[in-house]
Amino acid sequence: MRNITKEYPGVKALNDVSISFEKGEVHALVGENGAGKSTFIKSITGAIRPTSGTIVFEGKEYPHLEPNQAIELGIAAVYQELVQFEAMSIADNIFMSEKSAGVMLNDKERCKRAAELLKIFDCDLDPRTLIRDLSIANRQIIELAKATVKKAKVVIMDEPTAAITVAEQEKLYKLVHKLKEDGVTVIYISHRLEELFEICDRVSILRDGQYVKTVGIEETSKNELIAYMVGRELTSTYPEKKPCTGEVLLEAEDLSGNGVEHISFKLHRGEILGFAGLVGAGRTELMHVIYGAAKKTAGSLRIRGEEQRFASPNDGMKAGVGLIPEDRKFQGCFIDKAIDWNIAISDLSELSDGIVMNSRKEDALAEEYKKKLRIKTPNLKQKVSGLSGGNQQKVVIAKSLAANPDILIFDEPTRGIDVGARHEIYVLMNELAEQGKGILMVSSDMEELLGMSERIIVLHEGKQTGELTRSEFDQKKILSYASGLTPEA
Ligand SMILES: Nc1ncnc2c1ncn2[C@@H]1O[C@H](COP(=O)(O)OP(=O)(O)OP(=O)(O)O)[C@@H](O)[C@H]1O
Ligand SMILES: [Mg+2]
Repeated sequence: MRNITKEYPGVKALNDVSISFEKGEVHALVGENGAGKSTFIKSITGAIRPTSGTIVFEGKEYPHLEPNQAIELGIAAVYQELVQFEAMSIADNIFMSEKSAGVMLNDKERCKRAAELLKIFDCDLDPRTLIRDLSIANRQIIELAKATVKKAKVVIMDEPTAAITVAEQEKLYKLVHKLKEDGVTVIYISHRLEELFEICDRVSILRDGQYVKTVGIEETSKNELIAYMVGRELTSTYPEKKPCTGEVLLEAEDLSGNGVEHISFKLHRGEILGFAGLVGAGRTELMHVIYGAAKKTAGSLRIRGEEQRFASPNDGMKAGVGLIPEDRKFQGCFIDKAIDWNIAISDLSELSDGIVMNSRKEDALAEEYKKKLRIKTPNLKQKVSGLSGGNQQKVVIAKSLAANPDILIFDEPTRGIDVGARHEIYVLMNELAEQGKGILMVSSDMEELLGMSERIIVLHEGKQTGELTRSEFDQKKILSYASGLTPEA
């Protein structure tokens, strides 16, 4: 990629960036939210056309690539925003391109080959399962399988592990190694810097659309990468939280519904309660019951001592429960509306004076969250769709916080969020707890669970398998509970 520049109105997403990728290397691309990573790889895949610059592929020069041209050259990408056909089966999704290439497989063959592919990922899903019934992690695995099928020369992964758990990460790393052995070039975008040290050969850093540096992974450290990325000093990732546990805010007793069973716990004011588990353990499903998005079928759910019977998320919100969803793109916000509109919408009651929305208050609120969460945009009146992936997520978080609920559910709070803003979110969570709110945090990031929670509840296949207090925290113990084993075994 030579001298690539991409301009959007008001932003230079990429400014004269040159990076070369060698055959058979795993090359990571890092940078803060909005640094230009996705824009850069979209220039490679032809999803966007750079304003200027040259693409050189196997010695041949192109001013830009068309998407089908990129595919013909052997460039495959797993995007941050998954592009999938919800109503299609896994097998049909994986072999879609095969069809367009004229090699028609019959249904039985497709399923058989899909199952074989999924095995590489230790994934035993039925290839006939519809995409819409899959978790985000499983959807990502399907995308990777799709790229493998295309026999690509270059595989680009934009935050592939953002939504997957420790166990699945290992599978992904194995796959990356396999691609590398086969001489495939892997371009890997991730905000989890630790993992780069396991799988990458070289790392290139972008900052504010500018190329900073390319370093060999052996010659660098996590701290050095962070310094290149943010260009400022960062404090330790997990801020201290004052212990301030108050009265019981929420109590689940033998709670069942939405595929989870017999869950019991108490959430106190001032507390951050973590939920660990593998993908499919039922953590998000449980949160949906607590929030009113799914029905409780048995047991009790009390908030401030009062039994709740939620028929919809609206009821949950009225009782003071706010959810920051895992799947931010689809549940989180109105992507074609302005950033400030999105942030203000959930708190119409406080913002509207009579019938007319008070736009000054709206502006102030949006401005406050822009600062707090470091939302990178030239203008808060801009549509959310024009933001980078991580910045879109920050808008969703701001939107939920602006509603000012008493109980906050953070489902994967920092998925896709860069190191700098991650710290801001942790500080914010602690502040909220210290103000007397209760926080339920679902996370697949073990460090985050250990660093932020006061207690951790572990789920496995819809059942509660363990509960640990801070002094008992131990990664191995949590993982064995999460796999349904007793730690002693
Ligand atoms: N369609 C668009 N219209 C306007 N601006 C855009 C558009 N797409 C991206 N941008 C801007 O370009 C910049 C780079 O965005 P990009 O998506 O490449 O960032 P990123 O490094 O992938 O960030 P993240 O880690 O959050 O995914 C951002 O400032 C973003 O707001
Ligand atoms: Mg991106």
